[in-house]
Amino acid sequence: AAYGVAVAAAAAAALVIHRKMKKPGRWVKAMEILKEFEEKCGTPILKLRQVADAMIVEMHAGLASEGGSKLKMDEEGLFYALDLGGTNFRVLRVQLGGRTRGIVNQQFEEVSIPTSRMTGTSDALFDYVAATLAKFVAQEGSVFKPSPGRQRELGFTFSFPVVQSSIASGTLLKWTKGFSIDDTVGQDVVAELAKAMERRGLDMRIAALVNDTVGTLAGGRYNNNNVVASVILGTGSNAAYVECAHAIPKWHGLLPKSGQMVINMEWGNFRSSHLPLTEYDHALDAESLNPGEQIYEKVISGMYLGEIVRRVLCRMAEEAAFFGGTVPPKLKEPFVLGTPVMSSMHRDTSPDLKVVASNLKDILEISNTSLKMRKAIVELCNIVATRGARLSAAGVLAILKKMGRDTVKEGEKQKTAIAMDGGLYEHYTEYRNCFKDTLNELLGEEVSKTIMIEHSNDGSGIGAALLAASQSQYLELYES
Ligand code: GLC
Repeated sequence: AAYGVAVAAAAAAALVIHRKMKKPGRWVKAMEILKEFEEKCGTPILKLRQVADAMIVEMHAGLASEGGSKLKMDEEGLFYALDLGGTNFRVLRVQLGGRTRGIVNQQFEEVSIPTSRMTGTSDALFDYVAATLAKFVAQEGSVFKPSPGRQRELGFTFSFPVVQSSIASGTLLKWTKGFSIDDTVGQDVVAELAKAMERRGLDMRIAALVNDTVGTLAGGRYNNNNVVASVILGTGSNAAYVECAHAIPKWHGLLPKSGQMVINMEWGNFRSSHLPLTEYDHALDAESLNPGEQIYEKVISGMYLGEIVRRVLCRMAEEAAFFGGTVPPKLKEPFVLGTPVMSSMHRDTSPDLKVVASNLKDILEISNTSLKMRKAIVELCNIVATRGARLSAAGVLAILKKMGRDTVKEGEKQKTAIAMDGGLYEHYTEYRNCFKDTLNELLGEEVSKTIMIEHSNDGSGIGAALLAASQSQYLELYES
């Protein structure tokens, strides 16, 4: 009998070993997938420098006249701005009190754009925008004082690639960030908006068309003269900077008095063989609304980070049964895992990672995950966010290098400020910190002290209102 028991015990032990063997098999495979992804996402400093240098080459090649605008800061009056460029759009009103008093009052409202309007017709989108604006204008109330008999004026922040033909007109080159409306491409977006406002009976003059980067730069500079560049890290990503006019070979107009112009880089469309792209990025790109375009944007910006995480998780589920025998159906849905969710999982410091668990349950309908699995998911978020943040820091290095502000000359006290905006930068703390740390690492301690990164909350809207003011048809009134 004793022998029998021993045999049974051995069999039981064998079973346990067998079970254990099977489980680690899956786990090992899943970790292999993760490890391989991590290796391919590597962004050592040398690589970041290569990325920055490649971007500088593109900057030289692309220096065009678009985006140049003068900036006067002493206007007064009530101005409106409309900021269209991501999943939300904003309407603002700003009361300017002239040079001495600056911005006296401001108010804004944010509305999300229904997905159907992002991919429907041009009229459907602009009618929606005009209707929201009209409602906002109707609530002007007593705080804001439009000058009697004066037409309201609007700065239009439109954050998509545009060939700007004048301060208040520009042709849409292509949509980005999930917008796809064929009949707007090739059209003057100011005319599109003006027509929709007319249909709505809204009497307002569109005084300036601005990219969000240009608006952010203008808004940042209004408060701080050291601001020479702006970066948007939001749904999409882009940057603008102040360039010496003589360095712009394509500029055939009159040289501005200051000798300086603002360049909208559209850096989201940057691509280089130095970018650490993986099979997941290639697949995301191929299946996107704009394949082959906005490659840099697709690895660094808010619209895509969560989607990259989802794609890696999906592979882990399919090839390593990471979530058990079946692949959770929700996980197969493109864009179901947004970057805000990714960021809240990444930030989870509770000992049992309960935020990760609840997000998996609520968003992906996955329950019963082990702590070990949840840790792996946090690690995955970290890999994707780190790559994005470090690569965006490389972009800023490119700008500073191009402007000759990546070194400090002896005895020089030059300060450089960069205005930052966008939901990704604002809300994804780990991303923001990694971005800042990497920039410091790239610049070195001494130079880092001369560079200020300023979060300019809603700078792009205010900047658009300021630019509208600088283009006001009533300008002579103030000047006389
Ligand atoms: C996209 C747009 C660009 C914009 C950026 C940030 O890259 O093409 O114009 O500035 O998103 O919103």
